[in-house]
Amino acid sequence: MAEILITGGAGSFGRTLATELRHQGHHLHIFDLPSCDFNYFNGWEETNIFKGDILKPGSIKDALKDVSVIFHLAAILPPVSEADQDRTFKVNVEGTQSLMTACGSLNNAPRLIFASSVSVYGDTSNEKEVIRPDHPVNPNSWYAESKVKAEEILTASDLPVSNLRISGVVIPAFLDPPEPWPFMSSQQIELLVLPDLITAMVNLVGAEDMSEQPLLIAGGPGWQVSGELYVTRWGEVMDIPVEDMDFMDQPGWLHWYDTSASQALLNYQNTSIDSFFKELEIAVSEALA
Ligand SMILES: NC(=O)c1ccc[n+]([C@@H]2O[C@H](COP(=O)([O-])OP(=O)(O)OC[C@H]3O[C@@H](n4cnc5c(N)ncnc54)[C@H](O)[C@@H]3O)[C@@H](O)[C@H]2O)c1
Repeated sequence: MAEILITGGAGSFGRTLATELRHQGHHLHIFDLPSCDFNYFNGWEETNIFKGDILKPGSIKDALKDVSVIFHLAAILPPVSEADQDRTFKVNVEGTQSLMTACGSLNNAPRLIFASSVSVYGDTSNEKEVIRPDHPVNPNSWYAESKVKAEEILTASDLPVSNLRISGVVIPAFLDPPEPWPFMSSQQIELLVLPDLITAMVNLVGAEDMSEQPLLIAGGPGWQVSGELYVTRWGEVMDIPVEDMDFMDQPGWLHWYDTSASQALLNYQNTSIDSFFKELEIAVSEALA
């Protein structure tokens, strides 16, 4: 079993990932800002909690002790990233550099697993083919640009790095629709459910990632639909006609992806789009009961 650090560990992916890694018997170091709610980890006796700021190398150093695997999730995400460019580049880029600097002082180099994003490809709406991992990056948001720069820092390091370019992640929960949905109605999109992402991450700990390329993480061919189809199905469950929902009027960054390499390595695409909508129906009827 491994000694694993999760930066941004009190965030939404971090908590779910920690739950699954702990279930598998790994020993965890959870690192996040002191302002975060750490109550989720109450009673996790064997888990070490570190309250700090990734921008302060001294603060992350303690959390790195004895660690052999790092999940680097700490980041500023949209919409905050687009409203505060300075903070986004500080946390997402300088924070990654600060982590690498702190890793440089360790005797045994840890393996680093980075949560990047398919946003790095920018607007791919004119592409006729599925997007492959080596598709050129062309960021068109502060968030995407900060992820590209963080990837460059990791690529230049001597550490073994797995770079996960993750698509949009959905959960079957009774929520208001986003305004607007982060894609056009005609756009090709391929989302994935949070449990499948977490399966990919957990399986990566035990897998040898020999790929020179980033690993594209998305739902798989069954999730390759149009924005309109996805939102129509979502609206049928929520009882909201698709005509009453807003789409972006310019393409967002989503597309269809070639996930054959990540699926072959990590075997994580377990949830079909039909079972997602069934789970959503159950979540909605429970919320309304
Ligand atoms: N949510 C998605 O759909 C999605 C898709 C692709 C990639 N990602 C990436 O996955 C990762 C996790 O995303 P999430 O949805 O859990 O986001 P989240 O906002 O819930 O978690 C990010 C965490 O980073 C922490 N953080 C921010 N600044 C920090 C600092 N200075 N020092 C230490 N910690 C700091 C936050 O407190 C937060 O807990 C991010 O890197 C994100 O870019 C997310």
